[in-house]
Amino acid sequence: MLQAPIPSFQRFAHQVEVYARVAEHAPLFPRPALAAATVQDLLSVARSRGLLLTGGRFTGKSTFLRHDLLPLLRSDPSLYPIVIDFMAHEEAEPGAVILQTLCAELQSQDGVVRRTARKLGLTGLSLGGMQMSPVQAEADDFKGVLKMLRALSAKTGRRLILLLDEVQRTQTSDHGRRVLLSLARSVNSLNVDARPGPRILATGSHAHKLRKMTFGKEDAFHGATVRALPPLGGDYLQWLHAQVPVRGRPSSGLMASAFDRLLHRPRDLISVCQVLASYDGNPQHVIDRMFHLLVEECADDGKTEFLLHLRDLPDLPLALSRVMAEAGPEFAPFQLWCKRLTAALVQARRKLPAPPEFTEGEISDALNVLVARGLIWRGLGFVFEHARFQRWILSLDPAVEFGLAAPGGQPVSALLSVASEQGAPRLVS
Ligand SMILES: Nc1ncnc2c1ncn2[C@@H]1O[C@H](COP(=O)(O)OP(=O)(O)O)[C@@H](O)[C@H]1O
Ligand SMILES: [Mg+2]
Repeated sequence: MLQAPIPSFQRFAHQVEVYARVAEHAPLFPRPALAAATVQDLLSVARSRGLLLTGGRFTGKSTFLRHDLLPLLRSDPSLYPIVIDFMAHEEAEPGAVILQTLCAELQSQDGVVRRTARKLGLTGLSLGGMQMSPVQAEADDFKGVLKMLRALSAKTGRRLILLLDEVQRTQTSDHGRRVLLSLARSVNSLNVDARPGPRILATGSHAHKLRKMTFGKEDAFHGATVRALPPLGGDYLQWLHAQVPVRGRPSSGLMASAFDRLLHRPRDLISVCQVLASYDGNPQHVIDRMFHLLVEECADDGKTEFLLHLRDLPDLPLALSRVMAEAGPEFAPFQLWCKRLTAALVQARRKLPAPPEFTEGEISDALNVLVARGLIWRGLGFVFEHARFQRWILSLDPAVEFGLAAPGGQPVSALLSVASEQGAPRLVS
């Protein structure tokens, strides 16, 4: 029997903020074996074009980079790791972040930095504001970055290891793109000059955005390896479980599925456990039930706002977002089957006698509306900005969303099977 009301994650929002701060300072689970394997891989010849690690937001990429990889790299006297952190300087232009970090490293190697900079010919670089002259051409960027890397290699006498955190941020400005390209090309060129050459390891929260950076010859990481950073696993959960106060802790068997549900974000799981701890004294089955409810609420944090946002969309982008959620990686908005499904949904919403015909331009514009509203990303194909969006869209009854039924009414399978008879995958209703 309950000895206290079921807690609500929303009601605990203010506490959760406090808990999130607590979680921020909670001890970190070390990952030495993964760090050792990653370093060994990174230093191999096969990774001379770069190693890109992807993983969802808040799953521990930066922590792994700073608390596992960096100390290990620093412990090797033949290596000189440099962290270029684009999130720590979120307001700064990403190209400037690269240049500024390299300059600061040079400065730490050589107190007389102005003289060094002059010697390197970096006349367009103001060392106070670290601004490149806007007229500086791409070739100059490359020359400048290459000279800085050469100088750093020479001064340290070590192999440079560049660790770029959230590297897709560089793609948000022309200058960022250019300087990253210069950096990658400089590293390639130094790898041709000398072996063992420098290495780049970069992280990014968005696998598709990282992949796009490896796609073409003109992309900075052409030929680089993209790999998913394994999320924290069972050993971490066991370790965390042991730290939760015994009275008011969930059964250990529930931790793994909860962590999956929370997209492998340690902070969310810790926050839930913290809220749960204030319900100590209840029987275990009640604690476990509360845990489940809190996990569900935490997993759906932001869903209400998302749905308001979604329901504010015009018909065509709304229909496309539904078809995209249903189709997953198969989504191909300009193919006939996708167009038919989209048109069927718009027809339902507008209560038209026949499905409307959309030009490719109209479909493209509608996709751009989804991009502009931060719902999807358009790069190599289409992908939701956040993995949760797909689940949330699928949780809606299409019959209600497309105006065929009131909430609780019948699904629209009849309507959608018309489109599926014509060769399209069937929409789940
Ligand atoms: N190894 C770990 N052990 C314990 N907590 C962790 C670990 N890695 C990450 N966290 C928690 O998750 C939070 C987010 O991690 P972070 O490394 O910033 O994620 P990302 O860089 O992937 O967005 C951290 O602030 C920390 O609270
Ligand atoms: Mg990070």
